[in-house]
Amino acid sequence: MTQLEFDTAQFQPQLVTLDGQTVRYQAACDIPYVAQPVDDIQQLNIFVPAAYFEGGTLNGYTAATAPIFMPNTVGGYMPGPRDYPGNQQQPTNSKTLIQALRRGYVVVSAGLRGWSQQNAAGDFIGKAPAFIVDMKAAIRYVKANQGRFPGNTDRIITNGTSAGGATSALVGASGNAKFFEPALAKLGAAQATDDIFAVSAYCPIHNLEHADMAYEWEFNGINDWHRYKMDFSGAQPKFTPWAGTLTAAQQAQSAVLKAQFATYLNSLQLTDTAGAQLTLDADGNGSFRELVRQTVMASAQTALDQGVDIHKYAGFEVNAGRVTDLDLTAYFVSITRMKAVPAFDELDLSSPETKLFGDAQTPAKHFTTFASEHSTVPAKLASYELVTNVNPVTYLLHDQSTRAKHWRVRHGAADRDTSFAIPLILVTLLQNRGLDVDFTLPWDTPHSGDYDLGELFTWIDQLCQ
Ligand code: DHB
Repeated sequence: MTQLEFDTAQFQPQLVTLDGQTVRYQAACDIPYVAQPVDDIQQLNIFVPAAYFEGGTLNGYTAATAPIFMPNTVGGYMPGPRDYPGNQQQPTNSKTLIQALRRGYVVVSAGLRGWSQQNAAGDFIGKAPAFIVDMKAAIRYVKANQGRFPGNTDRIITNGTSAGGATSALVGASGNAKFFEPALAKLGAAQATDDIFAVSAYCPIHNLEHADMAYEWEFNGINDWHRYKMDFSGAQPKFTPWAGTLTAAQQAQSAVLKAQFATYLNSLQLTDTAGAQLTLDADGNGSFRELVRQTVMASAQTALDQGVDIHKYAGFEVNAGRVTDLDLTAYFVSITRMKAVPAFDELDLSSPETKLFGDAQTPAKHFTTFASEHSTVPAKLASYELVTNVNPVTYLLHDQSTRAKHWRVRHGAADRDTSFAIPLILVTLLQNRGLDVDFTLPWDTPHSGDYDLGELFTWIDQLCQ
């Protein structure tokens, strides 16, 4: 048996109970997915419904046809360890794993490196592009082992939330892209492709080099911010309330960034479903803003149809059961600003994104020229090539990859971690490239994921059964 060849003897029968229901499955755990790992996190777990070892079917699937569901546990671009059903330790998506098994999916959970990791010598080992290189290496392992464990390697669906949603979107957009080959070769990744069938992404925190502009396009003029400070130094993450008001300098920077966003948006040459150009004028108004407004109104209409009082948030006009108008600015005021200016490329290098773009010897770097020029600390600027190549949008603007054909993107209508413009650019580009997209802004939903697994799995079944 050669290295990276899966050995069926690794499977062990397991039981797990969720909501009083017992799920029988087999597990093969702690499998290195590259030949030359740099850290123990580069291992994966495989979980298979017991039926597929007994010649049975589940939800219409067999051992040969079952989709392979690959959720990740990445958050904050921190390390995302491999997960298992019944896992009590954060980060985990244990319930997602169990429900996926119950639905008849083969589940593969791969550990992915993140920005905080250092080796014994003190070198950082998980800076960008490590998270996506590991995700691709894990997919290559699964595809290289086609037929050695149940599941259809032509039906791989990735899933993640926030930074993990970005990971899912990036792997779906960048299948087999050349940029990652040297890093994959160095790790000794399995000989296979890494393109996938479908993407599930919740509130993907992506397009980082344009996220500051997009944030100010949305929140310019709203000067109070409030959020939670995250402390990951202990055994469990600690969250403490943290709030402030933009300084005069930040308010001036907000206006500059907002203006930059219109230029960026217009450069994308987006079109709506009728083929009309989506643009913004110098004040940030125009057909793209109207698309955002209509998308929020559609979210409110869905909630209204379910009997929800949508006036928890400001700006809506309702007539005879129809949402007839929305003052989008009033709505943004009512969902409130979470982050100061710049929202992502923080000038003192304190954000997770600046830490993501560090290197082996550098804890953090800027990744936009704006922040680099206004930095309040001595700082380097990450390479433009690196920053653009870990942005899924890049692979939708230029033909250099094998893209996933099916996309399901959700971004909560109460999410303030990134601008609504960010997911809307992504899904519009996907549609403009002829890909299959299912997108909504679920009403009154904060920055979170996996809150509608029944609907997600119905979407998967419609594509795979
Ligand atoms: C995440 C959230 C953020 O607001 C951010 O800037 C980066 C990552 C997250 O939850 O993964």
